[in-house]
Amino acid sequence: MAGRRTSLSRLVTPPNIEEMNMQTGKLSGRVALVTGASSGIGAATAAALAAEGARVGLVARRRERLEALAKQLRDGGGEVLPIQADVTDEAQVDRTVETVLSEYGRLDILVAAAGVGVAAPFQNTTPAEYRQMIELNFLGLLYGIHAALPIMKRQAGGHIVIVSSGTGRYIHPSTVYSGTKHAASAMAESLRREVGKDGIRVTSIEPGAVKTEFVSHMRPDVRQAVEDRLGDMEQLESEDIATAILYAVTQPRRVNVNILTLYPTQQA
Ligand SMILES: NC(=O)c1ccc[n+]([C@@H]2O[C@H](COP(=O)([O-])OP(=O)(O)OC[C@H]3O[C@@H](n4cnc5c(N)ncnc54)[C@H](OP(=O)(O)O)[C@@H]3O)[C@@H](O)[C@H]2O)c1
Repeated sequence: MAGRRTSLSRLVTPPNIEEMNMQTGKLSGRVALVTGASSGIGAATAAALAAEGARVGLVARRRERLEALAKQLRDGGGEVLPIQADVTDEAQVDRTVETVLSEYGRLDILVAAAGVGVAAPFQNTTPAEYRQMIELNFLGLLYGIHAALPIMKRQAGGHIVIVSSGTGRYIHPSTVYSGTKHAASAMAESLRREVGKDGIRVTSIEPGAVKTEFVSHMRPDVRQAVEDRLGDMEQLESEDIATAILYAVTQPRRVNVNILTLYPTQQA
């Protein structure tokens, strides 16, 4: 384990494990599946879980990014499995969960980090954009939970971590995106009440601005407006969110961390 810690902590960007000051082995024997693992918060979280000894399924559409992360983590002693999938397709999500189960034999932690946002007012959001946000941020989330829950119930335990957003709790100028994240946060709390009796924990992670590729996927005019709004404010790093997720999933089984909201210190 000491070897695993040393080599994983030498990994360079992305993700920056050096900053994470981790213990090792807390997740030994556990199996995790992380959607959105090809970049940003998902990649940093996958690395953090692997560094703590979890075997991790890495899910996203960009195969080469997943392969690169997998190599980096394996070189550092991690045990990971890249799986290319589009999480807006229910059949692909089912196959992903089946692949993790057949490879690793169980599923303890689902981190649903795949997401997209067009942070614009409603009148500057196209139907194609709002369909994409609903299909990925909400339906994609539901497909993953639907596939994971029966396994976690059979195991009499599991942890579902939903990467929602601060805009899923507070109102920011990002109407439909905010709506999908409010839906995600609301269902997280409702689901927690439903499945706690089965030993399954549910955590909603609600960050403010995090420095990832997220904004780069927006339309140029929307991206410019967001960048103008953020200015030179120091944003959160993906590793800050991964650290929060690691905190939630390494608590004793009796502890359900319901909601973690993290904002850049300077964000209003
Ligand atoms: N960055 C922020 O300021 C911020 C703040 C609050 C909450 N969040 C939330 O944090 C989560 C992660 O975002 P991020 O900031 O890390 O952004 P990011 O770097 O753009 O990551 C988004 C991830 O989602 C994956 N993805 C997108 N569409 C997908 C699909 N159809 N199927 C499977 N995977 C898909 C992407 O991989 P592929 O393109 O390879 O599929 C990528 O790995 C999102 O849910 C986002 O809403 C972000």
